[in-house]
Amino acid sequence: MPGKKVAVIGAGVSGLSAIKSCLEEGLEPTCFERSYDIGGLWRYEEKTEGGRPSIYKSAASNTSKEMTAYSDYPFPDHYPNYLHNSKILEYLRMYTEQFHLMKYIQFLSKVCSVRKRSDFSSTGQWDVVVETQGNQETYVFDGIMVCTGLYSDPFLPLQNFSGIKRFKGQYIHSWDYKTPEKFQGKRIIVVGIGNSGADLAVELSHVAAQVFLSTRRGAWIWNRVWDNGMPMDTSLFTRLNSVLIKVYPTFLINRWAEKKLNTRFNHNIYGLQPRHRFLSHQATFSDDLPNHIISGRVLVKPNVREFTETSAIFEDGTEEDVDVIIFATGYTLSFPFLENDSTIMDNHHSMFKFVFPPQLEKPTLAFIGILQPVGATIPTSELQSRWAVRVFKGLNKLPSVSDMMTDITTRRTKTRKEFLNNPRDSHRVQYVDYMDEIATEIGVKPSLFSLFLWDPKLAMEVLFGPCTPYQYRLQGPGKWHGAREAILTQRERIIKPLRTRILSCGQPSSSVPLWLKSICAAFLFIVTLVIIQG
Ligand SMILES: Cc1cc2nc3c(=O)[nH]c(=O)nc-3n(C[C@H](O)[C@H](O)[C@H](O)COP(=O)(O)OP(=O)(O)OC[C@H]3O[C@@H](n4cnc5c(N)ncnc54)[C@H](O)[C@@H]3O)c2cc1C
Ligand SMILES: *[C@@H]1O[C@H](CO)[C@@H](O)[C@H](O)[C@H]1NC(C)=O
Ligand SMILES: *[C@@H]1O[C@H](CO)[C@@H](O)[C@H](O)[C@H]1NC(C)=O
Ligand SMILES: *[C@@H]1O[C@H](CO)[C@@H](O)[C@H](O)[C@H]1NC(C)=O
Repeated sequence: MPGKKVAVIGAGVSGLSAIKSCLEEGLEPTCFERSYDIGGLWRYEEKTEGGRPSIYKSAASNTSKEMTAYSDYPFPDHYPNYLHNSKILEYLRMYTEQFHLMKYIQFLSKVCSVRKRSDFSSTGQWDVVVETQGNQETYVFDGIMVCTGLYSDPFLPLQNFSGIKRFKGQYIHSWDYKTPEKFQGKRIIVVGIGNSGADLAVELSHVAAQVFLSTRRGAWIWNRVWDNGMPMDTSLFTRLNSVLIKVYPTFLINRWAEKKLNTRFNHNIYGLQPRHRFLSHQATFSDDLPNHIISGRVLVKPNVREFTETSAIFEDGTEEDVDVIIFATGYTLSFPFLENDSTIMDNHHSMFKFVFPPQLEKPTLAFIGILQPVGATIPTSELQSRWAVRVFKGLNKLPSVSDMMTDITTRRTKTRKEFLNNPRDSHRVQYVDYMDEIATEIGVKPSLFSLFLWDPKLAMEVLFGPCTPYQYRLQGPGKWHGAREAILTQRERIIKPLRTRILSCGQPSSSVPLWLKSICAAFLFIVTLVIIQG
């Protein structure tokens, strides 16, 4: 049914792909964005605003550009592999312009409520109340795509930190942190060793008198720069590896990864070794943290037992004077505009493949980007959007309620077993597996078998190369004619921004000529034989 009206809530990376997917399928999107511009989390603002995501000025991506792109719109080849937030915003602006998305977005429009209409069970329609500059208006929509992100509501578990009321210094959540200047000369404790915690500890230690990094669990620390200086995700997130990870026993993979990370620095000596194994919890990205620990600018400490007026007392009994506490304790998930109705959302946030509430009478509500892929968000949200609009249109059908519930329960059990039983891990998915799963629904998963028959060169790159988003535009609905080329040139785009000083010669040549090496080798061989005989 063409001309269906869809409300897209939020104009971050997920909202933009939702608008584009609607247009691709001939639906009529209207995007409501509460702030005055696109970009969501990636638009840095000096001031925080309640209910909106907020990042620090230096924030950069932990996923590389080839893995982070929209599937039919690679990043420009000269862009660096890991991107500062301003570069990502630039890219989002180009994408918006390229696909003419701007005219579908209403800025300064906050969605206050989304409710089923009285005839919902037959029409699947929604009443949406939008507040624009103080005025509320109600609209009717045939479909809703919720793209409001995961990082708008800071989680500040003050009740877990006894004595925080008496603490005389300053404390903030990492959501409030922007730049380091005003922390000059302070003694600072950063609580939590997620990506933000590690980043802030490193940044603050350039100006602070001392930084303490307090962690309950510890963490495995990854680096963005992997073997041969290539981006970590392009080296590891390949189709081949996603198969290997299934056939190898988990303990072997854990052992391999932990050994690899410990070779860079010993997590035990550095006080970071977690009790959990590598695969069972989100790892933290930080290329700089070990440098700052070894130079004493960041001191790793255990959990805080309590705060006094001027200090922190840790669980090991040690005490340190501090002026500032930064809680990098993460975020809570909330959808304040959604009707309180168990068919929309139950206590566990049960959603079929993280997109569709399974109990809803009509599948006209989709959550986009409400998950944590171990990989990039942009392509994941985009693929979810492509699936959602097809379900809205009736081109794809959802399974029965009981089948969906079974799928959700099975996934939950599996996640509990794989990851620590932590609410924050409940939305975690392995990137390639999840992408393939959604792609199968739409019919855009690349068929390796026929690729090997008809285009072996491409097939090799699809199997052994990084599993980039362009793979999901090779066939099926939404096929993009540039996808093959984008895949075959991806390695060039990775190398290009690095080659700013091009060397005319290749490898430095060895100063010892080959004939001499051969003679030495033969000599050593004979000596060894003589010794063994002798
Ligand atoms: C420090 C940090 C680093 C990260 N690094 C990476 C990375 O390297 N790679 C990666 O892939 N992901 C990364 N992420 C994850 C990041 O969340 C996603 O990349 C992406 O920003 C998600 O976009 P989104 O559109 O889903 O949500 P958001 O970017 O949060 O956008 C949500 C939008 O919805 C709007 N909104 C909210 N409520 C309403 C309402 N009621 N009415 C109207 N509008 C509303 C908000 O104003 C906002 O513009 C990182 C996250 C953090 C916190
Ligand atoms: C906070 O304390 C409660 C019990 O008091 C505990 O269940 C919970 O795990 C703690 N959370 C954090 C983040 O420390
Ligand atoms: C939603 O409904 C449940 C039960 O009907 C109630 O316990 C809860 O407080 C309600 N929440 C809100 C935000 O109204
Ligand atoms: C990148 O950082 C964000 C924010 O901390 C996190 O949610 C995401 O999982 C990280 N990405 C990867 C691939 O770990």
